[in-house]
Order: sequence, then C-alpha cells, then structure tokens
Amino acid sequence: MGVSVPEANRPSLDAAPVAAGTGCTPVPGISLTIGRLRLETPLFLAPIAGHCDLPFRILCRELGGVGLASTDLLNSHAILRGSARTLELAATCDADSPCGMQLYGCGEDPLPEAACWAIDHGARLIDINMGCPVDKVAKKNGGSLLLRDCGATTLLAERIVRAVDRHAGGRVPVTAKVRLGWDPEHMVAPDLARRLEAIGIQAVTVHGRYTTQLFRGAADWGAIAQVVAAVHAIPVIGNGDISEPEHAAARMRESGCRGIMIGRAALRTPWLFAQTAAALRGGLASEPSLLEKLNVVLRHIDLLEQHTPIGSDSTHPHRHAVEQMHKRISWYGHTMGHVKPLKESIRTAPDLGAMRAVLQEWIERQSADHKQQQRS
Ligand SMILES: Cc1cc2nc3c(=O)[nH]c(=O)nc-3n(C[C@H](O)[C@H](O)[C@H](O)COP(=O)(O)O)c2cc1C
Repeated sequence: MGVSVPEANRPSLDAAPVAAGTGCTPVPGISLTIGRLRLETPLFLAPIAGHCDLPFRILCRELGGVGLASTDLLNSHAILRGSARTLELAATCDADSPCGMQLYGCGEDPLPEAACWAIDHGARLIDINMGCPVDKVAKKNGGSLLLRDCGATTLLAERIVRAVDRHAGGRVPVTAKVRLGWDPEHMVAPDLARRLEAIGIQAVTVHGRYTTQLFRGAADWGAIAQVVAAVHAIPVIGNGDISEPEHAAARMRESGCRGIMIGRAALRTPWLFAQTAAALRGGLASEPSLLEKLNVVLRHIDLLEQHTPIGSDSTHPHRHAVEQMHKRISWYGHTMGHVKPLKESIRTAPDLGAMRAVLQEWIERQSADHKQQQRS
C-alpha cells in the first residue's frame, strides 16, 4: 500500500503565506500570525487520530474558515524509516495548505530530524504533542508524559526549534500542544508555556483538561486564561468543548486566547469553522440547509475516494474509504433531522458508488421540495 506525496503536490515553502518581520504580529481582521506564518483565521482543526485525515482536512478547508489544520500525531522513528502507514498519515497537498505536522516522542527520539523531514514534505508548522493521554504514547515515549518534567521537555523543544530554524531559515514555526498538567495536583501549563516561549516556541495550544481526566468533565477555560497570563507575547490557542459558532468569540474574550481549536464538534459539523469565522467577523452564522449538508457528505465521499490509499484487496480497493463513511454518517445524521433511512442506507452500502446513488436520490428529492416551496 503506502502513499507517497508526488513532489508537485507538496506545497512549496516559498509559496507559504509569510508575514513580514518576525515575532507574532497582530494583523487587522481575524487573521493570526504565528512566527512568520500568517493564517487567514484564528481557527484550528484539531488533530484527531483516525478522523482528521487528509480528505477530512480538505473538506473543512473547502467549507471555509479554517486557519490551520494538522496531521495526526506522527512517530519520529516511523517517519524516518519510511513506515507506509506513517507516510500515509503525513500525506498532504496544495489543497491542504497551510498544514501543520504533529510529532510525538521524548528526549531519546530523533524529533529534530523528523521535524526537518516534515518540512521537506509539506509542513508549514511543526507541532510537538505534549498532551496525548493514550497509554501507547504516554507510558513510554511522549505525549502527556512530557508534562511530568518541564525542564527536560523544554530542552527537547529547544533542540527541535534550533534544528527547524537551521533547516527552514526561520520560516517554519514550532508550536506545542499541551494539556493543563498530568493531574489537578500538578498544573504545569502556565510554567511550561513560559519556558517554551523563552526557547523559541511560537504558539501554545492548551486543551483545558488534565491527562488523568482523558475527555471527562468540562474543559477549564479559567486555567487556559492562566496560561495566557503567563506568556509574554506568543499566541495561546484555547481548546476544549467548542461546538457552536458563538463559543469562539466568547471564549477568546473571557480567556484572552488568540486562537481557538475545534475537535470533536467538527466531525459532526465541518461547516462550523465557516460559521465561527462569520461570527468572529460580526456577521451571521447561518445553518446549512439539509440540501447543503447532503452535498457536503457527497463531497466527503469524493475526497475519500481521491485521497484514501487504495487497499491491497483488488476486489474492494476503497474498503477503507467505505468504512470511514459507514462510521461518519451517523455523526452527520445527528445534524440532519429525521434521516434514519438515509443513515441506514449509507451504513449498509457496499461501496462508494452505492453511497453516491443514495445521496443523489436524497439530493434530487430535496431539490424538488425546495423548488416546490419557492413556487408556492
Ligand atoms: C479520538 C481522538 C483522537 C485524538 N488524537 C489527537 C492527536 O493525534 N493529537 C492531538 O494533539 N490531540 C488529539 N486528540 C485531542 C484533540 O485534538 C482535542 O484536544 C480534544 O478532542 C479536545 O477538543 P474538542 O473538545 O474540541 O474535541 C484526540 C482526541 C480524540 C477524541
């Protein structure tokens, strides 16, 4: 299997939107600048392993409002030895720009080398994962484990920043994504963010939960505000439980954070970024019609077909893409009202063609209803 990103499809570093000067320059409107990378909006699609893949990132970008989207967390060893699965996860293209690549690992791992590889393969920003609570990652080599020793973590981050600066001439910012701490007795995020800023990290994303919480309880935006207060000038991106267009402006006002990252809600409502950007600009965030939502699902199927690696099973080459949509249709369905027959037909469709046929039928019916309403 394995996906290699054709040279021509990799966004060139020269084409990256770069802000004049260095440091974090506030830009009028709702754009956000991280180091020398200017983002159109301060809205980030969260990395969600297994879900925020290349087709989904492109879908969210096409719908509008996304400032930056990142790959899933990538293992530095797997990148450097060319593991097929990791190269698939790292795949990007022009339609997925600007793309961040997220790396995980600890002091012994070749993170600086992997970061340089990522830049050569399309990354416009390198993010270090300091928040993954999953045992496979956090028990031995990275993720949330990095929250337990801020001194060692800062030294590791400094090595990555130096390598990236040398490799990309200061054009690619290095950022970190943290949780508040390992547990509520050890809230390290403000101190860690301050130390990271001092060694050249250009932005910190804070998921407002502790590692021991996993995803339980509500995200603590008061604690995110403490991180904002602790840093000198870099943007803090707040993350946790944003699910409505008006949440972002309210959270930014309350906490002082300069950007917002949206994760699980985007899986149901990929149009949330466009709605949120409209709300941040002071406009109206209208809800897409059922017809528009059906077209989003249809587009997602096209993108899955175009950008999901072909499986080795020649009788069922798009198996992975089909399985993805079997899983995702119920999330979309939650936003569509009474569409049980649609969900059922997609969930049992054997291939992408059958899914398209079901959607086309629903789209035609909705279009006819729409025309009828306009006439009457
Ligand atoms: C299934 C799953 C996988 C995730 N994978 C990653 C990951 O690869 N890297 C990362 O930094 N965070 C990961 N996260 C955390 C999200 O990026 C985000 O911080 C979290 O979901 C909180 O944001 P939300 O409330 O908007 O979903 C994952 C979360 C979930 C639920």
